[in-house]
Amino acid sequence: MQDKPPISSTWQTPSNLAIVKYWGKKGIQEPVNPSISFSLSEATTTTRISASPNKRGGFSFRLEGKKAPEFHSKIEKFFDLVRSRLPIINHYHLDIASSNTFPHSSGIASSASAMSALAFCLADLQRQANDKYHYDITDVSSMARLGSGSAARSVYGGWNLWGRLPEIPESSEYYAVPAPTQIAPVFRSIHDDILIVSSSAKPVSSTSGHGLMEEHPYREGRIAQANENTIKLIKHLKTGNLEGFIEICESEALSLHGLMMSSTPSYTLLRPASLTLINEIRHYREKTGIPVSFTMDAGPNVHLLYPDEFAEEVLIWEKEQLQPLCEKERIIRDRIGTGPKKVIETN
Ligand code: DP6
Repeated sequence: MQDKPPISSTWQTPSNLAIVKYWGKKGIQEPVNPSISFSLSEATTTTRISASPNKRGGFSFRLEGKKAPEFHSKIEKFFDLVRSRLPIINHYHLDIASSNTFPHSSGIASSASAMSALAFCLADLQRQANDKYHYDITDVSSMARLGSGSAARSVYGGWNLWGRLPEIPESSEYYAVPAPTQIAPVFRSIHDDILIVSSSAKPVSSTSGHGLMEEHPYREGRIAQANENTIKLIKHLKTGNLEGFIEICESEALSLHGLMMSSTPSYTLLRPASLTLINEIRHYREKTGIPVSFTMDAGPNVHLLYPDEFAEEVLIWEKEQLQPLCEKERIIRDRIGTGPKKVIETN
């Protein structure tokens, strides 16, 4: 092992936005319900790992060029879950350098892109270290999932499904799969403008929120709702049914926040501006017939969604009516993307 040369791998992977939300876990990072998301184009993480043979393993981690010890325990936990599949973790010292295209405090969860980038680099390094090792994309997804559930869906571009549904034989709790349908053109160009309400750290993390679903009084109802919404959403994605899409998208966002409000202990991450934005979006849709809709993750920021063909008029309204309601007038404009890329190292 000592004679082996150092090796390296660099990957750029996207964050993703869930329309049907993963909320609640079982087993080892398995979701209690299926979720559907699309991968983003601009919000990405690029991670480079250089690995040198070393009997004791070990790693260092830099974020945006700076040491970031606050992420060590999360990485260690992840390594413990995947080291049996990736012996490289035990036999090489890994220098990990990561950077995000979106600011750390932007309210975009970076764990999906960060953990999928890490999983791609490690699988690639394992293959370089041992040419008998083969992996496919579902292996990468299942490893990414162990780092952060939503990361399972960040190993592909476009629309993806994670979680088991009896009606969809290829679906799995262990890894994500591409959405099992053709996607209508209107959903292949969807925009996601993130209206920043607050970039402060959340008072309750997603991981704690998932935990509160274990004893939640609405647990079974929520699982049934998500199963039903997943099946319906797949149909709407195929037929291009915008009305049906909007119904599910907004109900999922509000249900997620409703589950937080009805947990024990109860909490809310919504801010007054979140509700104002939601009302503005609904009002504009009713007034103009333009199919804008909203979703939210586990935070106060509001994601404004719309098909590309309406971008021009939506942007005018957004600047006038929505931007002044945002923290420091911040909006991060993104859209559906094509997925992870291996970065070819030139030197
Ligand atoms: C509301 O994937 O961040 O964004 O598995 O504990 O890392 P962990 O949680 P995480 O949860 C994401 C929750 C969500 C919905 C979703 O992305 O499906």
